[in-house]
Amino acid sequence: MLSYGCSTGEEVLTLRKYFNDANIIGAEINKNSLQICRNLKVDNKIRFIDSNEKDIRKCGKYDLIFCMAVLQRTPDTITRQGVKSLKKIYPFEKFENQVIELDSYLKKGGLIVIHFSQYSFMDVNISSKYKALGNYNQDDYASAIFDRNSNLIEKPISRNSIFIKLED
Ligand SMILES: C[S@@+](CC[C@H](N)C(=O)[O-])C[C@H]1O[C@@H](n2cnc3c(N)ncnc32)[C@H](O)[C@@H]1O
Repeated sequence: MLSYGCSTGEEVLTLRKYFNDANIIGAEINKNSLQICRNLKVDNKIRFIDSNEKDIRKCGKYDLIFCMAVLQRTPDTITRQGVKSLKKIYPFEKFENQVIELDSYLKKGGLIVIHFSQYSFMDVNISSKYKALGNYNQDDYASAIFDRNSNLIEKPISRNSIFIKLED
């Protein structure tokens, strides 16, 4: 499984408690955080890698991808300042490309968990290959959310967070 944006490794350590025999890859873009991960004492089925497409792909494909609190930009500030458009800060297209990239790492039949994001996975075209699983949602996300045009969604909507990939 892939923990995309694993920060200083806590997410990976938590995943190990739930999945005691899984190969877990933690990918992190921040070099300092990655170094902290690499100093953790972990078993030999956990690896921490730099978040670049080549290295992530080399360790895949994955049965499960966790992408938690990664697909967002300074959510507290954006919310506090009442920003109405994310176009200049984090356009929808950037989110869409990241989701398409994650989709390319995931096996058919695999699960993707997107939690705490400023956009909705269901707004990306490739989501038609997926089905929301269970009633898991992002209703606990307290920050502002945005639509496909990067415009603020004034009235909060419920967004699923766990999806199963039905086709490649
Ligand atoms: C708020 S932390 C969330 C950490 C962890 N996923 C959690 O939920 O506790 C977001 C992390 O994602 C990392 N990040 C942002 N963009 C990334 C990318 N493209 N690839 C990998 N990591 C990324 C940041 O450096 C940061 O460590």
